[in-house]
Amino acid sequence: MTNQSTIDQVNPQSHPGKDVYAVIGHPIAHSKSPIIHAYFAKQTNQSIHYGRIFSELNAFKETVEQFFARGGKGLNITVPFKLEAYELAQKKTERARLAQAANVLWYKDGELWCDNTDGAGLTRDLQRLLKHQGASLNHAKVLILGAGGAAQGVIEPLMAEKVGQITIANRTFAKAQQLVEQFKQSATSAQVPLEAREIQKLDQSNSDTSNTFDLIINATASGLGDASPISKELLKAISNSKTLAYDMVYGKETRFMQDARQLGLKASDGLGMLVEQAALAFETWRNLKGADSTLDIDGAIAAVRATY
Ligand code: ATR
Repeated sequence: MTNQSTIDQVNPQSHPGKDVYAVIGHPIAHSKSPIIHAYFAKQTNQSIHYGRIFSELNAFKETVEQFFARGGKGLNITVPFKLEAYELAQKKTERARLAQAANVLWYKDGELWCDNTDGAGLTRDLQRLLKHQGASLNHAKVLILGAGGAAQGVIEPLMAEKVGQITIANRTFAKAQQLVEQFKQSATSAQVPLEAREIQKLDQSNSDTSNTFDLIINATASGLGDASPISKELLKAISNSKTLAYDMVYGKETRFMQDARQLGLKASDGLGMLVEQAALAFETWRNLKGADSTLDIDGAIAAVRATY
């Protein structure tokens, strides 16, 4: 077995003349972030090194402090340290505050800043894909399948984009109901109707309006196995020719995506979300804000796909 803690460590002092960045997590060996950041660096002609850092569960704070003390410029944070990263930072962006979690850390004027680009990464990816369909998130009827951590993380960013309505359906109905109750207290949810539905009854319209959705997001962990949270027949009943089927899992064609394609729907995995959240961090670190469109998102997605 390879020793993860040796191969994945990054010492900024070992890369003279380069700005050094890394992604930190537990586990971390699978992370595609180095490929994405290397792609953006090459595209924009910047001299950086981006590596992976494995941290023991009880050593996150000291690992981060050591990295910055040695001259590191910025960190991406992945599972399970996003909450700890948020708490560690002295300065927090508004969207990090809303998520109460952070996936980006950097120093500015002697203070540790954090941001959360996961939500905006998802909505930028969805906007990009919907644009191909001549559609947008604004006023869209959205169905979220699942009521775990992944589902929870997408609700606030979708509401911020002023989608028309959000329906949450989950294998365990009570969890979908809990999630809806939790978000109904937030200010933005007042403008976006939020409802929980029983997953098997999604095709039974409870109003006069159509029971099809513009966007169906699979936020369940079912794609990691070989299952889809809904049958192909049910997917057919709740979609129309313009529906986008989006699976938050990446690196594989899930059953949910296969079913959607067989029904003639546009389907996508979540790799674009990973690339977009990286692009937002890269823009902050390299002062490219406002130049969103210059980073080659499609090229970075293709670069990661080539590694599978
Ligand atoms: P994550 O942080 O990835 O969301 P989680 O919090 O454990 O992980 O949530 C997993 C979600 O996937 C839940 O909504 C779960 O449904 P239950 O609440 O009924 O357990 C859903 N899930 C997992 N496997 C599934 C499957 N085979 N079919 C349908 N839903 C599934």
